[in-house]
Amino acid sequence: MNNFLNDPRFAGIEPFNTKVWLSSPTMHGDERRWVDEALRTNWVSTVGANINEIEKQVAEYIGCKHAVALACGTAALHLAARLAGEKLYGKAKPNHGTLEGKKVFCSDCTFDASVNPVGYEDGEAVFIDTEYDTWNMSPEALEKAFELYPDVRLVVVAHLYGTPGKMEEIRGICDKHGALLVEDAAESFGAKYLFRGKWAETGTLGYCSAISYNGNKIITGSTGGMFLTDSKEDADKVRKWSTQSREAAPWYQHEEMGYNYRMSNLVAGIVRGQIPHLAEHIDRKREIWERYEEGLKGLPVKMNPWDREKSIPNFWLSCMLIDEDAMAPYVRGEREELWKHEPGKSSPGEILNALAAFNAEGRPIWKPMHMQPIYRTNAFVTVEGNGRGRSNAYIVETGVDVGADIFRRGLCLPSDNKMTVEQQGKVMEIIRRCFE
Ligand SMILES: Cc1ncc(COP(=O)(O)O)c(C=O)c1O
Repeated sequence: MNNFLNDPRFAGIEPFNTKVWLSSPTMHGDERRWVDEALRTNWVSTVGANINEIEKQVAEYIGCKHAVALACGTAALHLAARLAGEKLYGKAKPNHGTLEGKKVFCSDCTFDASVNPVGYEDGEAVFIDTEYDTWNMSPEALEKAFELYPDVRLVVVAHLYGTPGKMEEIRGICDKHGALLVEDAAESFGAKYLFRGKWAETGTLGYCSAISYNGNKIITGSTGGMFLTDSKEDADKVRKWSTQSREAAPWYQHEEMGYNYRMSNLVAGIVRGQIPHLAEHIDRKREIWERYEEGLKGLPVKMNPWDREKSIPNFWLSCMLIDEDAMAPYVRGEREELWKHEPGKSSPGEILNALAAFNAEGRPIWKPMHMQPIYRTNAFVTVEGNGRGRSNAYIVETGVDVGADIFRRGLCLPSDNKMTVEQQGKVMEIIRRCFE
Protein backbone atom coordinates (compact mmCIF):
# COMPACT_ATOMS: atom_id res chain seq x y z
CA MET A 1 0.00 0.00 0.00
CA ASN A 2 2.58 2.54 1.07
CA ASN A 3 6.07 2.58 2.43
CA PHE A 4 5.63 5.48 4.84
CA LEU A 5 9.28 5.49 5.89
CA ASN A 6 10.36 6.33 2.31
CA ASP A 7 7.44 8.64 1.52
CA PRO A 8 8.66 12.26 1.06
CA ARG A 9 5.58 13.45 2.97
CA PHE A 10 7.08 11.96 6.13
CA ALA A 11 10.67 13.16 5.51
CA GLY A 12 12.62 13.86 8.70
CA ILE A 13 10.42 11.70 10.96
CA GLU A 14 12.16 8.73 12.55
CA PRO A 15 10.28 5.72 13.93
CA PHE A 16 9.87 5.57 17.73
CA ASN A 17 12.65 3.50 19.30
CA THR A 18 10.22 2.00 21.79
CA LYS A 19 6.62 1.40 20.83
CA VAL A 20 4.05 4.01 21.77
CA TRP A 21 1.05 1.97 22.93
CA LEU A 22 -2.68 2.54 22.67
CA SER A 23 -3.08 1.99 26.43
CA SER A 24 -0.70 -0.24 28.36
CA PRO A 25 -0.50 -1.07 32.08
CA THR A 26 1.17 1.59 34.25
CA MET A 27 2.63 0.09 37.42
CA HIS A 28 3.80 2.10 40.41
CA GLY A 29 5.47 -0.38 42.77
CA ASP A 30 2.69 -0.65 45.37
CA GLU A 31 1.30 -3.56 43.38
CA ARG A 32 4.36 -5.66 44.22
CA ARG A 33 3.83 -5.11 47.96
CA TRP A 34 0.35 -6.60 47.95
CA VAL A 35 1.21 -9.45 45.59
CA ASP A 36 4.29 -10.28 47.69
CA GLU A 37 2.18 -10.21 50.83
CA ALA A 38 -0.27 -12.68 49.31
CA LEU A 39 2.62 -14.97 48.37
CA ARG A 40 4.31 -14.62 51.77
CA THR A 41 1.13 -15.39 53.68
CA ASN A 42 0.17 -18.13 51.20
CA TRP A 43 -3.20 -16.58 50.28
CA VAL A 44 -2.66 -17.72 46.70
CA SER A 45 -6.24 -18.49 45.93
CA THR A 46 -9.60 -16.85 45.29
CA VAL A 47 -9.85 -15.77 48.92
CA GLY A 48 -7.65 -13.34 50.83
CA ALA A 49 -7.11 -9.88 52.23
CA ASN A 50 -6.50 -8.21 48.86
CA ILE A 51 -9.91 -9.31 47.56
CA ASN A 52 -11.68 -8.17 50.72
CA GLU A 53 -9.86 -4.85 50.71
CA ILE A 54 -10.48 -3.92 47.07
CA GLU A 55 -14.16 -4.85 47.32
CA LYS A 56 -14.43 -2.42 50.22
CA GLN A 57 -12.35 0.34 48.62
CA VAL A 58 -14.10 0.21 45.25
CA ALA A 59 -17.61 0.16 46.74
CA GLU A 60 -16.65 3.22 48.80
CA TYR A 61 -15.10 5.01 45.84
CA ILE A 62 -17.99 4.26 43.49
CA GLY A 63 -20.65 5.01 46.08
CA CYS A 64 -22.42 1.68 45.86
CA LYS A 65 -23.08 -0.71 48.73
CA HIS A 66 -21.41 -3.85 47.35
CA ALA A 67 -18.61 -4.74 44.93
CA VAL A 68 -17.90 -8.38 44.04
CA ALA A 69 -14.40 -9.09 42.66
CA LEU A 70 -14.48 -11.41 39.65
CA ALA A 71 -12.09 -12.94 37.13
CA CYS A 72 -12.89 -10.33 34.46
CA GLY A 73 -15.40 -7.71 33.40
CA THR A 74 -17.03 -10.20 31.05
CA ALA A 75 -17.79 -12.49 34.00
CA ALA A 76 -19.34 -9.52 35.83
CA LEU A 77 -21.51 -8.74 32.80
CA HIS A 78 -22.48 -12.40 32.46
CA LEU A 79 -23.63 -12.66 36.06
CA ALA A 80 -25.38 -9.28 35.73
CA ALA A 81 -27.29 -10.57 32.70
CA ARG A 82 -28.09 -13.85 34.47
CA LEU A 83 -29.28 -12.03 37.57
CA ALA A 84 -31.40 -9.54 35.61
CA GLY A 85 -32.95 -12.42 33.65
CA GLU A 86 -33.76 -14.32 36.85
CA LYS A 87 -35.26 -11.20 38.41
CA LEU A 88 -37.44 -10.55 35.35
CA TYR A 89 -38.37 -14.03 34.20
CA GLY A 90 -37.59 -16.42 37.06
CA LYS A 91 -35.11 -19.24 37.56
CA ALA A 92 -33.83 -21.15 34.54
CA LYS A 93 -33.25 -24.90 34.27
CA PRO A 94 -29.55 -25.89 34.45
CA ASN A 95 -29.07 -26.11 30.70
CA HIS A 96 -31.06 -22.95 29.89
CA GLY A 97 -30.29 -19.26 30.21
CA THR A 98 -32.44 -16.87 32.21
CA LEU A 99 -33.00 -14.70 29.11
CA GLU A 100 -34.13 -17.57 26.88
CA GLY A 101 -36.32 -16.30 24.07
CA LYS A 102 -36.16 -12.71 25.33
CA LYS A 103 -34.95 -9.66 23.47
CA VAL A 104 -32.53 -7.29 25.23
CA PHE A 105 -31.72 -3.75 24.05
CA CYS A 106 -27.94 -3.28 23.88
CA SER A 107 -25.43 -0.58 23.01
CA ASP A 108 -24.30 -1.06 19.44
CA CYS A 109 -21.02 0.85 19.41
CA THR A 110 -19.18 -1.20 22.03
CA PHE A 111 -16.84 -4.13 22.58
CA ASP A 112 -18.53 -7.48 22.07
CA ALA A 113 -18.03 -8.45 25.73
CA SER A 114 -20.86 -5.99 26.51
CA VAL A 115 -23.39 -8.02 24.57
CA ASN A 116 -22.13 -11.63 24.38
CA PRO A 117 -23.38 -12.33 27.95
CA VAL A 118 -26.93 -11.78 26.69
CA GLY A 119 -26.24 -14.70 24.33
CA TYR A 120 -24.67 -16.79 27.13
CA GLU A 121 -28.07 -16.53 28.82
CA ASP A 122 -29.90 -17.48 25.59
CA GLY A 123 -31.24 -13.95 25.07
CA GLU A 124 -31.29 -12.06 21.79
CA ALA A 125 -29.55 -8.69 21.60
CA VAL A 126 -31.35 -5.91 19.73
CA PHE A 127 -28.80 -3.21 18.91
CA ILE A 128 -29.61 0.43 19.54
CA ASP A 129 -27.88 3.00 17.34
CA THR A 130 -25.44 5.60 18.64
CA GLU A 131 -25.67 9.40 19.00
CA TYR A 132 -22.99 11.88 17.91
CA ASP A 133 -22.83 13.87 21.19
CA THR A 134 -21.10 11.18 23.30
CA TRP A 135 -20.81 8.22 20.86
CA ASN A 136 -23.05 6.15 23.16
CA MET A 137 -26.55 4.66 22.98
CA SER A 138 -29.03 7.09 21.43
CA PRO A 139 -32.01 7.73 23.76
CA GLU A 140 -34.15 8.55 20.70
CA ALA A 141 -33.31 5.22 19.10
CA LEU A 142 -33.98 3.47 22.43
CA GLU A 143 -37.42 5.09 22.58
CA LYS A 144 -38.07 3.86 19.02
CA ALA A 145 -36.99 0.37 20.05
CA PHE A 146 -39.62 0.30 22.82
CA GLU A 147 -42.22 1.28 20.21
CA LEU A 148 -41.13 -1.66 18.03
CA TYR A 149 -40.63 -4.16 20.86
CA PRO A 150 -42.77 -3.05 23.83
CA ASP A 151 -42.26 -6.31 25.74
CA VAL A 152 -38.53 -5.79 26.28
CA ARG A 153 -37.54 -5.42 29.95
CA LEU A 154 -33.75 -5.28 29.92
CA VAL A 155 -31.27 -2.71 28.57
CA VAL A 156 -27.46 -3.05 28.57
CA VAL A 157 -25.67 0.25 28.10
CA ALA A 158 -21.91 0.88 27.78
CA HIS A 159 -19.92 4.10 28.30
CA LEU A 160 -17.61 4.04 25.31
CA TYR A 161 -13.95 4.99 25.79
CA GLY A 162 -14.69 6.27 29.30
CA THR A 163 -17.28 8.86 28.21
CA PRO A 164 -20.61 8.65 30.03
CA GLY A 165 -23.66 8.26 27.81
CA LYS A 166 -26.92 10.22 28.14
CA MET A 167 -27.88 8.40 31.30
CA GLU A 168 -30.55 10.77 32.52
CA GLU A 169 -32.57 10.18 29.36
CA ILE A 170 -31.74 6.47 29.08
CA ARG A 171 -32.65 5.73 32.68
CA GLY A 172 -35.84 7.77 32.30
CA ILE A 173 -36.88 5.70 29.27
CA CYS A 174 -36.08 2.45 31.10
CA ASP A 175 -38.10 3.54 34.14
CA LYS A 176 -41.02 4.56 31.94
CA HIS A 177 -41.10 1.14 30.30
CA GLY A 178 -40.42 -0.81 33.51
CA ALA A 179 -37.07 -2.08 32.19
CA LEU A 180 -33.95 -2.92 34.19
CA LEU A 181 -30.74 -1.18 33.21
CA VAL A 182 -27.37 -2.96 33.35
CA GLU A 183 -24.45 -0.58 33.03
CA ASP A 184 -21.26 -1.72 31.34
CA ALA A 185 -18.76 0.62 32.98
CA ALA A 186 -15.79 -1.56 31.96
CA GLU A 187 -14.09 1.33 30.18
CA SER A 188 -15.36 4.16 32.37
CA PHE A 189 -14.20 3.43 35.95
CA GLY A 190 -13.78 6.85 37.58
CA ALA A 191 -15.97 8.75 35.08
CA LYS A 192 -18.66 10.96 36.61
CA TYR A 193 -22.14 11.98 35.53
CA LEU A 194 -24.59 14.59 36.80
CA PHE A 195 -27.57 12.33 37.39
CA ARG A 196 -30.86 13.85 38.58
CA GLY A 197 -29.00 16.87 39.98
CA LYS A 198 -26.25 14.92 41.79
CA TRP A 199 -22.78 13.94 40.61
CA ALA A 200 -22.46 10.16 40.55
CA GLU A 201 -19.97 7.61 39.29
CA THR A 202 -20.72 5.55 36.21
CA GLY A 203 -21.56 2.12 37.58
CA THR A 204 -24.17 3.48 39.99
CA LEU A 205 -26.78 4.61 37.48
CA GLY A 206 -28.68 1.39 36.80
CA TYR A 207 -29.86 -1.80 38.43
CA CYS A 208 -26.34 -3.24 38.58
CA SER A 209 -23.10 -2.79 36.71
CA ALA A 210 -19.68 -4.12 35.73
CA ILE A 211 -16.17 -2.68 35.60
CA SER A 212 -13.01 -4.19 34.13
CA TYR A 213 -9.37 -4.39 35.24
CA ASN A 214 -8.18 -5.75 31.89
CA GLY A 215 -4.55 -4.86 31.07
CA ASN A 216 -5.51 -1.91 28.88
CA LYS A 217 -8.00 -0.27 31.27
CA ILE A 218 -7.64 2.92 33.35
CA ILE A 219 -6.29 0.78 36.21
CA THR A 220 -5.52 -2.90 35.88
CA GLY A 221 -5.02 -6.16 37.72
CA SER A 222 -3.62 -7.75 34.51
CA THR A 223 -7.16 -9.08 34.29
CA GLY A 224 -10.15 -8.94 36.64
CA GLY A 225 -13.46 -7.17 36.97
CA MET A 226 -16.18 -6.29 39.43
CA PHE A 227 -19.92 -6.60 39.76
CA LEU A 228 -21.46 -3.57 41.52
CA THR A 229 -24.81 -3.35 43.25
CA ASP A 230 -26.68 -1.77 46.15
CA SER A 231 -28.42 -5.04 46.97
CA LYS A 232 -26.81 -7.35 49.54
CA GLU A 233 -28.96 -10.20 48.31
CA ASP A 234 -27.74 -9.73 44.72
CA ALA A 235 -24.10 -9.37 45.79
CA ASP A 236 -24.33 -12.59 47.85
CA LYS A 237 -25.94 -14.41 44.96
CA VAL A 238 -23.30 -13.28 42.44
CA ARG A 239 -20.51 -14.22 44.87
CA LYS A 240 -22.08 -17.65 45.31
CA TRP A 241 -22.56 -18.19 41.55
CA SER A 242 -18.96 -17.09 40.93
CA THR A 243 -17.62 -19.80 43.26
CA GLN A 244 -19.50 -22.76 41.72
CA SER A 245 -22.78 -22.20 43.60
CA ARG A 246 -21.98 -24.32 46.63
CA GLU A 247 -24.82 -24.85 49.08
CA ALA A 248 -24.22 -24.91 52.85
CA ALA A 249 -23.50 -28.63 53.20
CA PRO A 250 -20.46 -30.67 54.34
CA TRP A 251 -19.99 -31.95 50.76
CA TYR A 252 -20.27 -30.34 47.35
CA GLN A 253 -23.98 -29.73 47.10
CA HIS A 254 -25.47 -27.77 44.20
CA GLU A 255 -28.97 -26.47 43.57
CA GLU A 256 -28.16 -23.97 40.82
CA MET A 257 -25.70 -23.47 37.98
CA GLY A 258 -22.26 -22.36 39.11
CA TYR A 259 -19.22 -20.67 37.57
CA ASN A 260 -15.53 -20.38 38.36
CA TYR A 261 -15.50 -16.60 38.06
CA ARG A 262 -13.95 -15.36 41.31
CA MET A 263 -10.92 -13.05 41.22
CA SER A 264 -7.54 -14.37 42.34
CA ASN A 265 -6.02 -12.78 45.45
CA LEU A 266 -2.83 -12.17 43.40
CA VAL A 267 -4.76 -10.22 40.76
CA ALA A 268 -6.51 -8.37 43.59
CA GLY A 269 -3.06 -7.43 44.95
CA ILE A 270 -2.24 -5.65 41.68
CA VAL A 271 -5.61 -3.89 41.70
CA ARG A 272 -5.04 -2.89 45.34
CA GLY A 273 -1.74 -1.28 44.38
CA GLN A 274 -3.37 0.54 41.46
CA ILE A 275 -6.42 2.02 43.22
CA PRO A 276 -4.47 4.87 44.89
CA HIS A 277 -3.29 5.91 41.40
CA LEU A 278 -6.69 6.03 39.69
CA ALA A 279 -7.04 9.83 39.96
CA GLU A 280 -3.52 10.34 38.66
CA HIS A 281 -4.20 8.03 35.67
CA ILE A 282 -7.36 9.98 34.86
CA ASP A 283 -5.41 13.26 35.03
CA ARG A 284 -2.77 11.91 32.61
CA LYS A 285 -5.45 10.65 30.20
CA ARG A 286 -7.23 14.00 30.32
CA GLU A 287 -3.99 15.84 29.55
CA ILE A 288 -3.46 13.53 26.57
CA TRP A 289 -6.99 14.21 25.28
CA GLU A 290 -6.56 17.98 25.73
CA ARG A 291 -3.15 18.00 24.00
CA TYR A 292 -4.70 16.19 21.03
CA GLU A 293 -7.61 18.61 20.97
CA GLU A 294 -5.24 21.58 20.91
CA GLY A 295 -2.57 20.03 18.69
CA LEU A 296 -4.89 18.75 15.98
CA LYS A 297 -6.56 22.15 15.54
CA GLY A 298 -6.44 23.24 11.93
CA LEU A 299 -6.86 19.67 10.67
CA PRO A 300 -10.26 18.53 9.37
CA VAL A 301 -10.87 16.33 12.43
CA LYS A 302 -12.76 16.42 15.72
CA MET A 303 -12.02 14.71 19.01
CA ASN A 304 -14.41 12.20 20.61
CA PRO A 305 -17.03 14.43 22.24
CA TRP A 306 -18.44 14.55 25.78
CA ASP A 307 -21.09 16.52 27.60
CA ARG A 308 -19.16 19.22 29.46
CA GLU A 309 -22.08 20.15 31.68
CA LYS A 310 -23.27 16.72 32.72
CA SER A 311 -20.20 14.51 32.62
CA ILE A 312 -16.52 14.16 33.45
CA PRO A 313 -15.10 11.24 31.44
CA ASN A 314 -12.07 9.27 32.59
CA PHE A 315 -10.61 9.97 29.10
CA TRP A 316 -9.50 6.34 28.81
CA LEU A 317 -8.99 6.56 25.04
CA SER A 318 -8.54 9.66 22.92
CA CYS A 319 -10.22 9.29 19.54
CA MET A 320 -10.82 11.45 16.52
CA LEU A 321 -13.32 11.67 13.70
CA ILE A 322 -12.34 12.85 10.21
CA ASP A 323 -14.67 15.40 8.61
CA GLU A 324 -16.71 13.84 5.82
CA ASP A 325 -15.29 16.12 3.12
CA ALA A 326 -11.72 15.29 4.20
CA MET A 327 -12.21 11.53 3.86
CA ALA A 328 -9.94 10.05 1.19
CA PRO A 329 -11.24 6.92 -0.59
CA TYR A 330 -11.39 4.08 1.93
CA VAL A 331 -13.21 0.76 1.86
CA ARG A 332 -13.31 -2.08 4.35
CA GLY A 333 -14.13 -5.72 3.67
CA GLU A 334 -14.70 -8.24 6.45
CA ARG A 335 -10.99 -8.56 7.20
CA GLU A 336 -9.06 -6.29 4.88
CA GLU A 337 -9.07 -2.67 3.86
CA LEU A 338 -8.12 -0.55 0.87
CA TRP A 339 -7.26 3.12 1.11
CA LYS A 340 -5.85 5.69 -1.27
CA HIS A 341 -4.23 9.02 -0.45
CA GLU A 342 -5.62 12.24 -1.87
CA PRO A 343 -4.05 15.66 -1.20
CA GLY A 344 -5.62 17.39 1.81
CA LYS A 345 -7.49 14.23 2.77
CA SER A 346 -6.84 11.04 4.68
CA SER A 347 -8.60 8.03 6.20
CA PRO A 348 -8.44 5.88 9.33
CA GLY A 349 -6.74 3.22 7.18
CA GLU A 350 -3.95 5.54 6.09
CA ILE A 351 -3.43 7.12 9.52
CA LEU A 352 -3.39 3.84 11.46
CA ASN A 353 -0.94 2.31 8.97
CA ALA A 354 1.26 5.41 9.11
CA LEU A 355 1.29 5.31 12.94
CA ALA A 356 2.14 1.60 12.86
CA ALA A 357 5.00 2.23 10.41
CA PHE A 358 6.49 4.68 12.93
CA ASN A 359 5.97 2.22 15.81
CA ALA A 360 2.88 3.76 17.41
CA GLU A 361 -0.36 1.91 18.13
CA GLY A 362 -3.77 3.30 17.26
CA ARG A 363 -6.90 1.25 16.66
CA PRO A 364 -10.06 1.44 14.58
CA ILE A 365 -13.21 2.52 16.41
CA TRP A 366 -14.91 -0.58 17.86
CA LYS A 367 -16.85 -2.05 14.95
CA PRO A 368 -20.57 -1.72 15.75
CA MET A 369 -22.26 -4.91 16.87
CA HIS A 370 -24.97 -4.76 14.18
CA MET A 371 -22.20 -4.95 11.55
CA GLN A 372 -20.53 -7.99 13.12
CA PRO A 373 -21.06 -11.24 11.18
CA ILE A 374 -22.08 -13.04 14.40
CA TYR A 375 -24.94 -10.55 14.96
CA ARG A 376 -25.96 -9.80 11.36
CA THR A 377 -29.37 -11.33 11.83
CA ASN A 378 -30.13 -9.50 15.09
CA ALA A 379 -32.43 -6.48 14.95
CA PHE A 380 -30.91 -3.00 14.84
CA VAL A 381 -32.90 0.14 15.70
CA THR A 382 -31.99 3.72 14.72
CA VAL A 383 -33.74 7.04 15.37
CA GLU A 384 -35.81 6.26 12.27
CA GLY A 385 -36.94 2.85 13.56
CA ASN A 386 -35.93 -0.49 12.08
CA GLY A 387 -32.35 -0.12 10.83
CA ARG A 388 -32.28 -3.33 8.80
CA GLY A 389 -33.27 -3.75 5.16
CA ARG A 390 -33.74 -0.02 4.65
CA SER A 391 -32.52 0.20 1.08
CA ASN A 392 -34.88 -0.42 -1.81
CA ALA A 393 -33.91 -1.40 -5.33
CA TYR A 394 -36.53 0.96 -6.72
CA ILE A 395 -36.32 3.98 -4.38
CA VAL A 396 -33.20 5.89 -3.40
CA GLU A 397 -33.06 5.72 0.38
CA THR A 398 -30.01 5.59 2.60
CA GLY A 399 -31.16 5.72 6.24
CA VAL A 400 -29.13 6.87 9.22
CA ASP A 401 -26.57 4.61 10.85
CA VAL A 402 -24.51 6.71 13.25
CA GLY A 403 -22.41 3.80 14.53
CA ALA A 404 -21.34 2.80 11.01
CA ASP A 405 -20.43 6.42 10.24
CA ILE A 406 -18.26 6.81 13.38
CA PHE A 407 -16.62 3.45 12.63
CA ARG A 408 -15.87 4.56 9.04
CA ARG A 409 -14.47 8.01 9.86
CA GLY A 410 -13.07 7.55 13.36
CA LEU A 411 -10.01 6.06 15.01
CA CYS A 412 -8.53 5.56 18.48
CA LEU A 413 -5.28 7.44 18.97
CA PRO A 414 -2.26 6.32 21.00
CA SER A 415 -3.47 7.12 24.55
CA ASP A 416 -0.87 5.54 26.78
CA ASN A 417 -0.36 7.51 29.96
CA LYS A 418 3.39 6.91 29.77
CA MET A 419 3.56 8.60 26.35
CA THR A 420 5.73 11.75 26.66
CA VAL A 421 4.70 15.18 25.40
CA GLU A 422 7.38 14.86 22.70
CA GLN A 423 6.12 11.45 21.62
CA GLN A 424 2.57 12.76 21.42
CA GLY A 425 3.83 15.73 19.40
CA LYS A 426 5.37 13.32 16.91
CA VAL A 427 2.17 11.27 16.74
CA MET A 428 0.31 14.47 15.85
CA GLU A 429 2.93 15.42 13.27
CA ILE A 430 2.49 12.02 11.58
CA ILE A 431 -1.28 12.61 11.51
CA ARG A 432 -0.75 16.11 10.10
CA ARG A 433 1.46 14.75 7.31
CA CYS A 434 -1.22 12.19 6.43
CA PHE A 435 -3.44 15.12 5.42
CA GLU A 436 -0.77 16.81 3.22
C1 LIG B 1 -17.03 -2.08 26.90
C2 LIG B 1 -16.38 -3.31 27.46
N1 LIG B 1 -17.17 -4.23 28.04
C3 LIG B 1 -16.65 -5.32 28.59
C4 LIG B 1 -15.30 -5.58 28.57
C5 LIG B 1 -14.82 -6.87 29.12
O1 LIG B 1 -13.95 -6.73 30.19
P1 LIG B 1 -12.87 -7.87 30.48
O2 LIG B 1 -11.82 -7.78 29.40
O3 LIG B 1 -12.34 -7.53 31.82
O4 LIG B 1 -13.55 -9.18 30.45
C6 LIG B 1 -14.45 -4.64 27.96
C7 LIG B 1 -12.98 -4.78 27.91
O5 LIG B 1 -12.28 -5.66 27.76
C8 LIG B 1 -14.99 -3.49 27.38
O6 LIG B 1 -14.22 -2.60 26.78
